Amino acid sequence: MNIVIVKDYYELSIQAAQIVAAQINKIKKSVLGLPTGQTPLGMYNELIKKYEKDEIDFSQVITFNLDEYYGLSPLHPQSYHYFMWNTFFQHINIKKENVNMLNGITENIDEECQRYENIIQIRGGIDLQLLGIGENAHIGFNEPANVLKSRTHLVNLSNSTVKANSRFFNDIKEVPRQALTMGMGTIMKAKKIVLLASGKNKAPALAKTVNGLVSTRVPASLLQLHKEVTILVDEDAASRI
Ligand code: F6R
Repeated sequence: MNIVIVKDYYELSIQAAQIVAAQINKIKKSVLGLPTGQTPLGMYNELIKKYEKDEIDFSQVITFNLDEYYGLSPLHPQSYHYFMWNTFFQHINIKKENVNMLNGITENIDEECQRYENIIQIRGGIDLQLLGIGENAHIGFNEPANVLKSRTHLVNLSNSTVKANSRFFNDIKEVPRQALTMGMGTIMKAKKIVLLASGKNKAPALAKTVNGLVSTRVPASLLQLHKEVTILVDEDAASRI
């Protein structure tokens, strides 16, 4: 694991955007795996700025989001569809047909998950996968468990994740209890992975991810087995490494 510690959230966002820009500037048709949540917001902002300054062209870029709440329509303001279009995609020149997201209101979960796996394969696999990390060390929505599913699947969210994500909803009762997520195998097949973490609340998860045993109880620790992983963290998140 390549561990890069930066001063603060601002530096983290700048460096993350630089990694993404370098990838796209090297390969215009790059396939990106993208997270939602608080952590990547700064990076998306920096990427928008780069686009506005003509420093990056998204016209051939293909994206796959990691996950989507099960039961929320793409138009729901808390859906990850809505989040991605609102905070990022609508501000850049990405083509709608190159944006791939899981359908949270699918009537056939297995078919939807298989569809996602198939397009990732057809598009040649993910070149650069960006990740956030949960306080419980989940990545995507692969929650700590005795066993993990390898491919895209429906998952029950842990109480701690529901609680953590309730900050985006009016009431915790509105937070979906299930989500569709890429599996650990889907994520681990990416050619390069960059995990972003900021803040003291992520420090325990980071320490276990980097220094601990590889365990499905700490899903992010599986990244120790990948050959091209960068852990990009600010000083607060790195404080227990
Ligand atoms: C979201 C995702 C999650 C988040 C994680 C951290 O698409 O895959 O694993 O990255 O829950 O969320 P924030 O950044 O809000 O702390």
